[in-house]
Amino acid sequence: MNSAATIPLNDGRVLIRPISMDDVSPTYVDWLRDPEINQYLETRHTEQTLASVGDFVRAMIASPDQHLFAICLGPEQRHVGNIRVGPVKHPHGLADVSLFIGDRSAWGQGVATAAIKLISRFAIETLGLRKLNAGVYGPNTGSAKAFLRAGYQQEGLRRRHYLMGSEMVDALEFGLCAEDLDTKRQIP
Ligand SMILES: CC(C)(COP(=O)(O)OP(=O)(O)OC[C@H]1O[C@@H](n2cnc3c(N)ncnc32)[C@H](O)[C@@H]1OP(=O)(O)O)[C@@H](O)C(=O)NCCC(=O)NCCS
Repeated sequence: MNSAATIPLNDGRVLIRPISMDDVSPTYVDWLRDPEINQYLETRHTEQTLASVGDFVRAMIASPDQHLFAICLGPEQRHVGNIRVGPVKHPHGLADVSLFIGDRSAWGQGVATAAIKLISRFAIETLGLRKLNAGVYGPNTGSAKAFLRAGYQQEGLRRRHYLMGSEMVDALEFGLCAEDLDTKRQIP
């Protein structure tokens, strides 16, 4: 984690801060085990336990090329989900952005959109990245809309790319270039 990432990023309502081992809790594990939450997440393919989530978070904290943030909401800064930029592909100045909001009571309030805006500005302005990418399952309308609202453009569609059980679903590719911060599609 870049040292600049120790500063929480805040839009006045949604705050993102670097994850810590204290965030690894039964609630966090339950989020990842919930079939409605994990239906579009690759984590659903492996069993999620306190130990496995702890290993994952420890590895993220140790890696210089991963930046995993807790998404927090409200005056009490309640942890409602996570957002990550990484791995950073240095030769290209690229990284992936991915997220989940585990606390269902936080859905539909613009939290994902706000967190994507905050981490994208951090990735471009603080990490100096040139471009960010996000992959979304075709039926995941909420996630696709959140990336578009945050200034990303849809750049691709891979037909029948993923399997959800026996159903083949498209994969949508979204991208945000550093220049997009300074255009009409900029992150507000
Ligand atoms: C998908 C997810 C990220 C959306 O988070 P959110 O905080 O509810 O999203 P926002 O409130 O910022 O909503 C963005 C837009 O999507 C819409 N939306 C949100 N959830 C939706 C859903 N389930 N179906 C349709 N539209 C939805 C919102 O109404 C909003 O639309 P608008 O811009 O027209 O007002 C969240 O539900 C989630 O984490 N789900 C489980 C894990 C997951 O799918 N992660 C993403 C993997 S790519």
